[in-house]
Amino acid sequence: MPKDEKKISSRIKYLIKEINYHNEQYHTYDNPKISDKKYDKLYKELKELESSYPEYQNENSPTRRIGDKLLGGFSKITHKFPMLSLSNASNADDFEKFYIKLQENIKQNEIPLFAEPKFDGLAVSIEYHDGKLFSAVTRGDGKIGEDVTSNVKTIKSLPIKISKNLLSKHITLRGEIFMNKRDFNNLNNQLLKVDEKPYANPRNVAAGSIRQLDPKVAAERNLQIFIHGIANTGTGFKEKNHSSLMKEVEKMGFRVCKLNQLTKNYEEACLYYEKIKMERENLPYEIDGIVYKVDDLNFHKILGETAKAPKWSIAYKFQSTEKVTKLNDVTFQVGRTGIITPVAELEAVNIGGVTVSRASLHNMDEIEKKDIRIGDYVYVKRAGDVIPEVDRVLLSKRLPENTKIKMLKKCPACKTNIMKIKGQSFYICSNHNSCFPQVSQSIIHFSSRKAMNIIGLGDSIIEQLLNKKKIENYSDLFSLSYEDILSLERMAEKSAKNIFNSIHKSKDTKFEKFIYALGIKEVGETIARILSENFQTIDYLIKANRDDLENIKDIGPIVSDNILEFFSHKTNVNMVNKLIKNGLKINYIKQKVKNKNQNNSYVITGTFENFTREELKQALLEKGASVSNSISKKTTALIAGKNPGSKYKKALDLNIDIIKSDGLFKLLSEFH
Ligand code: IVH
Repeated sequence: MPKDEKKISSRIKYLIKEINYHNEQYHTYDNPKISDKKYDKLYKELKELESSYPEYQNENSPTRRIGDKLLGGFSKITHKFPMLSLSNASNADDFEKFYIKLQENIKQNEIPLFAEPKFDGLAVSIEYHDGKLFSAVTRGDGKIGEDVTSNVKTIKSLPIKISKNLLSKHITLRGEIFMNKRDFNNLNNQLLKVDEKPYANPRNVAAGSIRQLDPKVAAERNLQIFIHGIANTGTGFKEKNHSSLMKEVEKMGFRVCKLNQLTKNYEEACLYYEKIKMERENLPYEIDGIVYKVDDLNFHKILGETAKAPKWSIAYKFQSTEKVTKLNDVTFQVGRTGIITPVAELEAVNIGGVTVSRASLHNMDEIEKKDIRIGDYVYVKRAGDVIPEVDRVLLSKRLPENTKIKMLKKCPACKTNIMKIKGQSFYICSNHNSCFPQVSQSIIHFSSRKAMNIIGLGDSIIEQLLNKKKIENYSDLFSLSYEDILSLERMAEKSAKNIFNSIHKSKDTKFEKFIYALGIKEVGETIARILSENFQTIDYLIKANRDDLENIKDIGPIVSDNILEFFSHKTNVNMVNKLIKNGLKINYIKQKVKNKNQNNSYVITGTFENFTREELKQALLEKGASVSNSISKKTTALIAGKNPGSKYKKALDLNIDIIKSDGLFKLLSEFH
């Protein structure tokens, strides 16, 4: 055998062994060891190899069987109609191919498809004889299943008796048994309380409960069922479409999913997929894709089936957005504003096509709440462009030696003592002006497009400028010479010129962009714009006191704290002055026209019947007046509700007007 062929033969053998093992884990023991996606990939590879090299076909190949072996304990029942599987589409291309094939075979452009969620549960075949529930059988290997009638009879939404009029003597229904997410969580919480191992997912519980020998267990689990098809023909139904047949099934008293929908054409089928994908998180039960079935039952006969699956149906799986992987370690990252963020170092895992090896753990409170420990297996979530995050722990795989995560005592970058911010979840390194990651990130932020918009000043250039001591912080950028930039590694003359010109161009900027560029904690674009509208110049902003800031609508106490703290550091004020000295030109906007109330300053105390103090404050601010926390000689009046505090006495002492609740209406109506 040539060397390459030998490789193929042994790969096929390996795949057969591997897939058979996973089949057994999944079907027989309800204990999958790999994700559906990985399994499908292995299966697809084997199928392709077998069709290209038919000489290596093997009796034991999983592609020749419908399902897998059975566990002892229940009596076996042979399915009158084999329980087939479904072909899978793992991406939009696969689904499009399926549709094109239908178009070719049916010779029709628009093919109505009945679309249903793919329920993540346990398949069951239920027979009714003369209107009475006769048997319920698991899928087993697709040909022979286990008799789980007594357990299935405990499912409350499944009728034991149905109307006979509509039916032939025998009818075989197919459905999916599952558990609602809420019941699953309640069950796991109870198990945890008594120190028992929780279940991995609702599907495992549903499968485990149905395959318990004692029906009492199944009865306690509040299992659910959706019926999704009739297996036998000749049932007496006149319906020509799957959709109308399912309506009849529903009328007979069976639970059919309300989300099922007939889609007219390819576009509608794709829209349905997107719609359900969006709703997935909020559904009370778990689903893992969409099942499409050609609606016209006549076409089922024409299209036929393979040994494994019908050709008129496909399961279009959702890309998984969540995977389980091992948390190897936790490292700590220093952010631009000094916040220390714990980062999960993970065993690399592919989530929806992207390899993830690090994920956010947010903060220590989150870690505590989720009880995450090093060595745990954790669920990692990734949605769109959002940074991957550790969602929760797979507690069933927790080992006693897994260690609790502790916050560092010193900053990992500059070794300054780390402090906890009072009343917040954050830990912080306060060495803002010389902690390297803070300084470099603040320069990156300063230069970014929404801030000063300096083009070409990437991360590595900034790091080089800092390392070579060409700059110490962003206030030095304007004094950089062309030669300074050119002296950097791998810097071409043209790029150096572009960067130099861009730095100079950035000197002419809008006030709001400059405020944003300063990188004050929690001062994003919006707050920066609001500040620029409320302060005439940067000097006014630097000198603002708490009242000046808190009197601005939308500026709360935390943001005020951050602004006051920022300008309380002389170095920050010096940095602003240095930029101005080196040519910064801030373009200020015209101030909002202030109204006649602008000189009125109120202080509020006590409680009011119809509104909170904050609501009253906002109403006054909107009218142009200002509101202060403390009484001074400048206070226009004290607005006093019930149970006023010490401010009341102070107002009396200073002979300040006091407006009580009854005078308030007049006061507010006087403002225009
Ligand atoms: S129809 C010929 N509809 O998915 C097979 N199956 O991967 C007809 N499943 O064994 C199956 N939700 O247990 C159908 N809405 C749905 C389904 C569904 C989940 C399961 C079913 C089947 C497996 C195939």
